This record gives sequence, C-alpha cells and structure tokens, in this order.
Amino acid sequence: MTEPTAKKVIFSAVKPTGIPTLGSYAGALKNWVAMQDEYDCIYCVADLHSITVAMVPADLRKNTLDMLAMYLALGIDPEKCTLFVQSHVSAHAELAWVLNCYTQFGEAKRMTQFKEKSKKAPDNVNVGLFDYPVLMAADILLYGAECVPVGQDQKQHVELARNIAQRFNNRYSPTFVLPEPFMPKYGAKICGLQNPDKKMSKSDDNPHDCVYLTDDADTIMRKFKAAVTDSDASIKYDRANKPGISNLLTIYSVFAKVSVEQAEKEFAGCGYAQFKKRVGEAVCEFLRPVQAECRRILADKSYLQSVMKTGAEKAAYLARKTLSKVYRKVGFVQI
Ligand code: TRP
Repeated sequence: MTEPTAKKVIFSAVKPTGIPTLGSYAGALKNWVAMQDEYDCIYCVADLHSITVAMVPADLRKNTLDMLAMYLALGIDPEKCTLFVQSHVSAHAELAWVLNCYTQFGEAKRMTQFKEKSKKAPDNVNVGLFDYPVLMAADILLYGAECVPVGQDQKQHVELARNIAQRFNNRYSPTFVLPEPFMPKYGAKICGLQNPDKKMSKSDDNPHDCVYLTDDADTIMRKFKAAVTDSDASIKYDRANKPGISNLLTIYSVFAKVSVEQAEKEFAGCGYAQFKKRVGEAVCEFLRPVQAECRRILADKSYLQSVMKTGAEKAAYLARKTLSKVYRKVGFVQI
C-alpha cells in the first residue's frame, strides 16, 4: 500500500537506436531532469526494444553507453532516481511473456506504430515488432507507475498497457496500478530545421534537418544557417503561418531558457540571418559544458559500470516484487 506522503511513480524509457537530438531533449529529457525532485522517477534505456529493427551489435553497445552518459551529463541524478539498462533486469522479458497471454492478437494488430513500421520495413516484420507494446506494458506495470511521460506517438501504447492491466486485475485481483499517459507541462515540440512542419527526425533524408546533442559547434552553426524561414521579415510566433520562425523561437526558448514571448521581444527588428545565428549560438552554449561532461563520463568506465549496477539492482528489487505477485496469481508453483 502506498503511504499518503509517497511520491507518484513515473516510468519512462528511450530506445538507444541513435544519437539524441534537440527534439529528444526538449520533448523528453528536459522533463526527465525536471521531474526528479517532484516524483519517484524510474528511467530506463530500453535496449530490448531496440532490436525489433536491425541493429549492428557494436552500434547498440555504443549507443547504450553514449545515451547513459548523455543523460547523466544533462543532469539525471542516479541518487535521486532509478536509472538502468532494460536488459540488466530480466523481469521485463519475463512479465512480457505473461502479459502476452492477456493481450488479444486483434488489439495488438491495431497499434498504429506497428502498422507504420511494418510498412516501412516490409522485409523485417518480426514478431518482436508486433509484441513491442506488450514489452512496453511490462516495463510500466512492473514498477506501479501511475504516470508515463510520452510523446503523442506512444500514447496508444500506454493505453494498451492500461487495458492489459485492467484485464489482469479483473481476472485475478488488483495487482497492477493503472498507468496513464502524461504529457508533461514543460514539454516542447521541436520540428526539423528543413521541414518545420514535421517533428525533428533522425530519419529525415536531409542531414541539415536534425541537430544532434553531440554535434560540434561548427556543424550546429552550419545547420542553423541553412534553416528554413519564410519571405516575411518578422520574428513572431505563429505555428500555422510561420512554422520555420516559430520553431526557431521554440528552440531558442528551450536552450536559452527564456519564454517564447521574451524571445520575440529580444529579436524584435532583428534580421533572419542574425536571428538564426543567435539561435545556433544559444544551442552551442548550452551544449558545450554538457558535451564536455559527457566525454568525461564516457572515459570513466568504472563510474558508468557502477551507475548501471546500482540502477539494475534498484530496479530488479522493485520489479521482482511485482513479478512474484503475478506468478503466484496465475498459478505458477513457488519454490
Ligand atoms: N516505445 C518508446 C519509444 O519508442 C520507448 C519505451 C519503451 C517506453 N518502454 C517504455 C516509453 C515504457 C515509456 C514507457 O519512445
């Protein structure tokens, strides 16, 4: 039973499929950092999820460590939250199996992301890709998370997790906390620099569309210089009519830590070229110390190992409690 003073449990995870972008920071990581004090946060590098698409093993290993180091550099504090790598806690795969048997084929088939991804890579529509939302349900339900901060594309998966939890609870007795998707108040959606109508995406064909958190200053400045604007000349936030400028204002507001209104005032009367340069500089200034810290952490192998080990132990303890309850309820014999 939760004590009246207990903080809400938050669970979130990111797949280590590539390098995080400005969009990953603004939309997710920034919230992860902000929520650490207010909630009981459990954060996971979801490596099990990343093999539903073809991954080169060396890349997966590197991305996992890079991502962990980047999180730590950005201010995720393993003393305040539980930070771990999914494959280090076997209960995720174990609960996923049980939940598979409480998920209907038809409801999994309705998942929009599955439909989209199988269309995109028709030669690798593996069962893992289909089962991905059930593993995600296991991630969430193991920790009794009430809130799951996710982007719009993952909302349907959290709703599925809730349905599976409810079904299990009704069939047996209350076991799982029913999770809810949570769109954090600090969230900001960042679009591509070349396609400001679309979410900033690693998969975009144009390499100038997306800025990575690991890009060096020259690359960042070049990308911002090439950013799409419009033929107007005013720096005003107007998503519908001025997507490029609005996106740059959002980026500036996140990385220079000012409100969009303040940013508009700051740039009143400024030319577009100068504006883009200033936005690029704000991003570089924000990233310079973060990247230095990230390099320092990556070089300190024993520190990274100890973070992973402590995180895995904390997570495994909590996860095992839930899994044992589930095993008992479905009728597995205990030893
Ligand atoms: N599927 C999520 C994504 O692609 C990552 C993820 C895995 C996740 N498990 C989760 C997110 C549990 C929230 C909760 O971004």
